Amino acid sequence: MIIARTIEALQEAKRQFDGSIGFVPTMGALHQGHLSLIQQARAENDVVIVSVFVNPTQFLEGEDLDAYPRREEADAKICELAGVDILFMPTIDQMYEEDELCIGAPAIRGYILEGEKRPGHFDGMLQVVMKLLNLSSATRAYFGKKDAQQLALITQMVKNYFMDVQIVPCEIVRDEKGLALSSRNAYLSDEEKQRALALSRSLKRATKMVMAGEYDAQTIKAEMLKVLEETDKVEYVAIVDREFNALERVEIGNTIILVAAWVGKPRLIDNIWI
Ligand code: PAF
Repeated sequence: MIIARTIEALQEAKRQFDGSIGFVPTMGALHQGHLSLIQQARAENDVVIVSVFVNPTQFLEGEDLDAYPRREEADAKICELAGVDILFMPTIDQMYEEDELCIGAPAIRGYILEGEKRPGHFDGMLQVVMKLLNLSSATRAYFGKKDAQQLALITQMVKNYFMDVQIVPCEIVRDEKGLALSSRNAYLSDEEKQRALALSRSLKRATKMVMAGEYDAQTIKAEMLKVLEETDKVEYVAIVDREFNALERVEIGNTIILVAAWVGKPRLIDNIWI
């Protein structure tokens, strides 16, 4: 595996390979969820590139940029064992210059739910993903469904800017109890981990209701909020279509039910696609 820390090293490394390129962008602290994206990329492409870059522009003032878990050595080992060809680990200076041209998140879909709670987050995320997609020359890029709004906005960016890359949505990976894997789970104590299960439990409750024929969004959300009482604070429960328009009634095959809640230090998100 080639580790590239500069843009030049990445371009030089890419010249050593031929064929389709599967790309997995990450902010490191790799876990089983990332590994499943890497494995899918490995199975579907000739070359696999993974990036590890804690992108400062997607963190707001006062968020956990400095505390965000950084585990370069362990990440490199995981990538090597997973058969990654190129690991791109740039510095901030490599990725950004002063007074940059910026692309922005769309005015509505970029500023609801996650975008409302973290205004500006999606601008920074799209900015870095645009750079990384261009740098990787990816044929396919792999993103988890857990960050469903991020995935929808990246899909929209690729469409709006006519970018020649296929965005591949990948299933959410959960621990044995149902907690969606996230690098931020590292902040949870054992007791908080138990309470964090309320997120996935609320989604299971919603799914059961839909399976029993209850499609009314308000009724489902009210039941979910009861289950979420175990968390410290619920930020939102939402029922949207795959393009993030709010739904009054669940549409089978076109619905995402989302939840965001605080448990201890971290703010956790989870969702289910129906
Ligand atoms: O989902 C993430 O880890 C990040 O938002 C991404 C896509 C790597 C961009 O920094």
